[in-house]
Amino acid sequence: MQVMMKLGSREHKQLFCRSFLDTYLDYEPENLPWPNLDPVSLERLRRIPFWREALLTESEAGVMVSAFAETITDPLIKEAVALQGREEHRHARLLRHLIERYDIEVSPLPEITVPDQIETAFTDFGFGECLDSYFAFGMFDLARQAQYMPESVFKIFDPILDEEARHIVFFVNWVTYLHIQQGWNVEGLRSFRALWHYGKALKTLIQAFGGSADQQEGKPFTASEAGHFMDDLTANQFFKTCLDANQQRMQRFDEQLLQPLLMPRLSKLALTCLRLWPSRNPVPSVQGG
Ligand SMILES: [Fe+2]
Ligand SMILES: [Fe+2]
Repeated sequence: MQVMMKLGSREHKQLFCRSFLDTYLDYEPENLPWPNLDPVSLERLRRIPFWREALLTESEAGVMVSAFAETITDPLIKEAVALQGREEHRHARLLRHLIERYDIEVSPLPEITVPDQIETAFTDFGFGECLDSYFAFGMFDLARQAQYMPESVFKIFDPILDEEARHIVFFVNWVTYLHIQQGWNVEGLRSFRALWHYGKALKTLIQAFGGSADQQEGKPFTASEAGHFMDDLTANQFFKTCLDANQQRMQRFDEQLLQPLLMPRLSKLALTCLRLWPSRNPVPSVQGG
């Protein structure tokens, strides 16, 4: 019979670090099977508003996560965080390759510097990544269902989203491990602290929800922009797809590991509310087709 692993223990650390390190995928973005796109797909790809924001986020993440790894004393955690740093750098390289290959117009990025409070920056980034990835998984599935792009494009991005899933699972386990190690061993206090960080990330997300279609470059990709990929998208369909997509990405992880729970819980709540108070309002469409 399997013995339950204790959160914050050495076994916990071994598990979340090892499962992260052992699932590394070796590839070079430039060597992936990039397809030649037909004019319609090419135009659609160029119209997606978030390429600059995504490139900036990944570039900043690469620099910040790699710098944070340098400050860590625990060799195993250091190795895992350093790997995440390399993966974020690789995401930036992949996006840069895509932008150049398909001639997507993106204004130059600002100079990227290492934040002063590096652990706080990594923690804020981690909570933010939990929220962003949750929506990215759902958006990706919506776009795939709507065949917004040829399947060959989705095949290139699928492993990238799996990498983000690995990052957020690593992160929630790391942050819990750290809080327990620092003496935050009361469940309620840990949850409260996590909620505070999520609150910060949520604030950014809510501001993003208020963004309009004309503020395209430099704005985070928002749920309302899901209308890019599918006409007549209902809120119900949106939350359901996010929930299912998240479950699918998360089911591959060891059951003993923690997973980000806030967004799945909020989505379930939203779905219950939508069942109780049905509305015909679709998620606002940014542009038709
Ligand atoms: Fe990334
Ligand atoms: Fe990431």
